[in-house]
Amino acid sequence: MPLNRDALWYKDAIIYEVHVRTFNDSNGDGIGDFPGLEQKLDYLQELGITAIWLMPFFPSPLRDDGYDIADYTAVHSSYGTLEDFRKLLDSAHERGIRVIIEMVLNHTSDQHPWFQEARSSQNNPRRDWYVWSDTEAGYKGTRIIFLDTETSNWAWDPISKSYYWHRFFSHQPDLNYDNPAVREQMWNVMKFWLEMGVDAFRLDAVPYLVEREGTNCENLPETHTILKELRRKIDEQFPGRMLLAEANQWPADLRPYFGDEDEFHMAFHFPLMPRMFMGLKLEDRKPITEILQQTPEIPPSCQWSLFLRNHDELTLEMVTDMERDYMYDMYAESKTMRLNLGIRRRLAPLLNNDRRRIELMNGMLMSLPGTPIIYYGDEIGMGDNISLGDRNGVRTPMQWSGGWNSGFSIAEPERLYAPLIQDPVYGYPAVNVLSQRESEHSLLRWMQRIIAVRRSTAVFGRGAIEFLYPANHRILAYLRRLGKEAALVVNNLSSTAQAVELDLRRYKGNILIEMFGNNIFPRVGDLPYLLTMGPYQFYWFRLRRV
Ligand code: NOJ
Ligand code: CA
Repeated sequence: MPLNRDALWYKDAIIYEVHVRTFNDSNGDGIGDFPGLEQKLDYLQELGITAIWLMPFFPSPLRDDGYDIADYTAVHSSYGTLEDFRKLLDSAHERGIRVIIEMVLNHTSDQHPWFQEARSSQNNPRRDWYVWSDTEAGYKGTRIIFLDTETSNWAWDPISKSYYWHRFFSHQPDLNYDNPAVREQMWNVMKFWLEMGVDAFRLDAVPYLVEREGTNCENLPETHTILKELRRKIDEQFPGRMLLAEANQWPADLRPYFGDEDEFHMAFHFPLMPRMFMGLKLEDRKPITEILQQTPEIPPSCQWSLFLRNHDELTLEMVTDMERDYMYDMYAESKTMRLNLGIRRRLAPLLNNDRRRIELMNGMLMSLPGTPIIYYGDEIGMGDNISLGDRNGVRTPMQWSGGWNSGFSIAEPERLYAPLIQDPVYGYPAVNVLSQRESEHSLLRWMQRIIAVRRSTAVFGRGAIEFLYPANHRILAYLRRLGKEAALVVNNLSSTAQAVELDLRRYKGNILIEMFGNNIFPRVGDLPYLLTMGPYQFYWFRLRRV
């Protein structure tokens, strides 16, 4: 199946986020690698996803799992060779699967040769590639992101005897984007991968590129100028490729990242995600409808990307203090589940392994406006290991089978990069791909099904949304419309059965076709449309005039 050539391919995509290290080990050293991932492309194709997003796989001391890059144009030897990456890319493309890689613009590892040079002396020619100061006094209005590890955004460099700026770990010095040589070099890096054929970049930590005194050093106009320049080059030299913004910001601050169709094609909708979890716990649609009402319109070629979980903690930066307390109380009763401003757990444990809630949340993920991202392992309901530090508890080896090392690796178990999940509920003997494939009612089979249904229409990826506000506020209902096509989505956020009356007068005469079974529901008439719904049930209907 060749790649579809539509320039707006990302609007119809289903993205699967995976870390090479975690997926499949082909050479028995205990670490996942490119050939291992390549062997599993058939599995991903069968799941129905159309793009993979790979976490950083570049040479790195791995103190931030690869987001601390020491060389931008090579691959980490644990994962294979550049040739192995090329092969993976080709094999993915042959299956119609696009490949999104990471571009960490904001910072490098302190082990990067650029930083080594820059710190070697105050007059080194590369000195100005990073942000230096004699004091810690600058940019005081800037928040600290990794609150649990860092106390300042400045770190002391004992070699050159001055301070350098870092928004993340102190071993991740920020590059200086006021320096044109840095901007040019980073474009060269992007070109290197684009020429090889990668389809898209997730641009890490984009709000923080430029610093200015007297501001909070986020979302500055100068930063947008730099990003627009990258987009212009992509459009000129590599049309059809895509840029996805990681900007953990409020909707109003996110909007400028789309610009006038001249900055990002896509951006994660960070504020929506925690509100889906809130709406579910409160059994009330309000958090979801409210945030989507506050979300500005985006230009026609732009797209949100939606997610339930990813490789980081479930971030609670884009909620109020009260909402954060609520989320902690509801979803992270034990303090060890919390990290920075977030919750370091996977989807299934967050939802108490309740299949109905897992389905409902995925149903919303795939029917709200945007492109869904599935985090590896969540399609089988994998668990987490909170005894592992930092965010490693949600990055354990993929569970392929109940056999040796879950089929992930033939290494001795103690050589695995991280222990397998072993507990009775989520451990690999209980939760794995092989057994779920064999079982018609497994979560995996259900995920295949919902992905196929989602892909059967462009309305979810491209259509407009309009909320219905039935009196029963436990019901979240919306219409999705694209040209002549219309779909109705009705979600019961409650743990008990509910009845709802929907005002569908404008669709009088239409029939409703339930999309999973293609069954016909009663015709819309003059009366409110009555539906009864079981706990956490949801419906997707096609509206058809007949
Ligand atoms: C965002 C990434 O998602 C996270 O994993 C990383 O630690 C920071 N950026 C710093 O690069
Ligand atoms: Ca390996």
